[in-house]
Amino acid sequence: MNHFINLKDISTKDLRKIIDDAKKRKKFRKKLSTLEVDKGSPLKGKILIQMFEKPSSRTRISFFLAIRQLGGGTLTLRSNELHLGQGGESISDTGKILSTYGDGFMLRTDSEKKMEDFKKYLSIPIINGLSPLSHPTQVLSDIFTVEEIKKKPISKLNICWIGDSNNVLNSLIAASVKFSFKLSIGCPKKFEPGKEVRNWVKKNNKKIFIYNDPKKAVSGADVIFSDKVISLNDKGNKKEKIYAFKNFKIDKKLTRFAKKDFIFLHCLPRGNEVSEDVFLSKNSHVWQQALNRVHVQKSILLYCFGKLR
Ligand code: CP
Ligand code: NVA
Repeated sequence: MNHFINLKDISTKDLRKIIDDAKKRKKFRKKLSTLEVDKGSPLKGKILIQMFEKPSSRTRISFFLAIRQLGGGTLTLRSNELHLGQGGESISDTGKILSTYGDGFMLRTDSEKKMEDFKKYLSIPIINGLSPLSHPTQVLSDIFTVEEIKKKPISKLNICWIGDSNNVLNSLIAASVKFSFKLSIGCPKKFEPGKEVRNWVKKNNKKIFIYNDPKKAVSGADVIFSDKVISLNDKGNKKEKIYAFKNFKIDKKLTRFAKKDFIFLHCLPRGNEVSEDVFLSKNSHVWQQALNRVHVQKSILLYCFGKLR
């Protein structure tokens, strides 16, 4: 059994194995319809309990499809429907109960501590479906999407992020170390990645490139990633933050600095950080990116259940 909480804690070998498995499975599904089960039904009889403390469209639907296509099922809960969410039951008791009824647990939470506490008390695998500091299932799937479209290992590409130093960027930074790709980040000075993340990169003898001029960050990029300026967990002054990002909008003028065949990716939901024409351009692959979450999460589930081929 394996947990999937943070890309930092998973070996490059295992991450690569997940991507390779997803590639094979996606290819085999070409003739299958949405709910048909993969050959061998590898997670037959298994149930993934998903719990959301925050809204989600893609993560909840893609995990539902992922486990169904492997022969299992899901139960989706909102934390406020549980005794835990009302403050009446401890994480240790809830963890024990989840482990009694379920085979795997996916959690979207506003607390890193809660994720760690659940890990401590569960005897089934836990998957991080987004926390304040990381969004590992999203980013591993995005690595898959980049390599699928560009037909090259990501280590051979210039990756750029324009946006806030949030959970998705933290996971992208972890991925840049694990998969050895060049990552250029464009954001206002005040919203640069924190010391802890930068030190972790240094400790791993890797580098990330941070620019306060979006043109410099985008220059020569094969891939431009972005995300909302205001995240679900944001507690700061939103107006001030949006103002600080006013020169970081991804529009046609800015993307001219990227390579001609650059691709644009965005985990969604989106805000005003990207212009409509870039978001809907032929360079944008956001729908394929969202679909690939199903394929990659299937292989993440198999990794967690100790059934990766
Ligand atoms: N990208 C992503 O995780 O979307 P949801 O918040 O809709 O799950
Ligand atoms: N950074 C965003 C990602 C949403 C999928 C958030 O945390 O709200």
